[in-house]
Amino acid sequence: MLTKCLFPAAGYGTRFLPATKAMPKEMLPIVNKPLIQYGVEEAIEAGLTDIGFVSGRGKRAIEDHFDVSYELEQQIVGTSKEHFLADIRKIISSCSFAYTRQHEMKGLGHAILTGRNLIGDNPFGVVLADDFCIAQPGILSQMVNLFVRYGCSIVAVEEVPKKDTQKYGVIDGEEIDRGVFRISGMIEKPEPEQAPSNLAIIGRYILTPDIFINLENQVPGAGGEIQLTDAISAHAKDNMVIGFKFTGRRFDCGTLNGFVEATNTVFEGMTP
Ligand code: UTP
Repeated sequence: MLTKCLFPAAGYGTRFLPATKAMPKEMLPIVNKPLIQYGVEEAIEAGLTDIGFVSGRGKRAIEDHFDVSYELEQQIVGTSKEHFLADIRKIISSCSFAYTRQHEMKGLGHAILTGRNLIGDNPFGVVLADDFCIAQPGILSQMVNLFVRYGCSIVAVEEVPKKDTQKYGVIDGEEIDRGVFRISGMIEKPEPEQAPSNLAIIGRYILTPDIFINLENQVPGAGGEIQLTDAISAHAKDNMVIGFKFTGRRFDCGTLNGFVEATNTVFEGMTP
């Protein structure tokens, strides 16, 4: 039964400095809603309501966002502004939230391993909130459907121009169904000539708990960090792991261009 979703959110967000000096990158708003709230909404839509955050120093705003603010509630109750809080109130009442801290930022793989105490022996979703996605149904919902069929770890992939492969983890594998690839290996940030395909991993995963064993044994990889890509690649050597070409659109909101593009797209969708 898939009910848990982990949000690694301990990174420094250096590409958004100085905005992220005292504020988590995950709280940057796309129009009027923080990135992390979009991610949690996508998880809820997919039925994943046990939400776990891997947070770190300077990330208190995330905890406060997913909690009741009594003073604010008192202030706006019965006014024309009350509806602004309707969505977040609904989220708070329909989920459980748990937090753990990553003390040293040793990479995404290390962040996931840090979240193990929130996950236990269960399969779980992973959302990197700075990969902002517009999809109908949401990408996690699409992946949960696939998990019901295959029961194995799944990574969401999209085609990228070959010249950009060094920005991503890239999969190697064979297409076993339309848009579904059995992964034989993965490389983090390969140069275009070393890239086994142009299918890049994006920030949506469903992982089975045996991934923690690979993570425990994982040595630092690209950038000296414990890479989730390397651990999943090791896992794929002895286990079925799927790359799933999702339907929808992704914006890399870890970069200024992606962030502005996402903001414009959402704003255009809101204005009549
Ligand atoms: P990024 O590679 O985007 O790093 O992490 P970052 O620190 O957030 O941003 P930049 O590169 O400095 O601008 C991808 C995801 O992994 C999390 C981040 O919070 C983000 O959601 N992460 C990364 C951790 O939780 N811990 C880490 O040690 C590294």
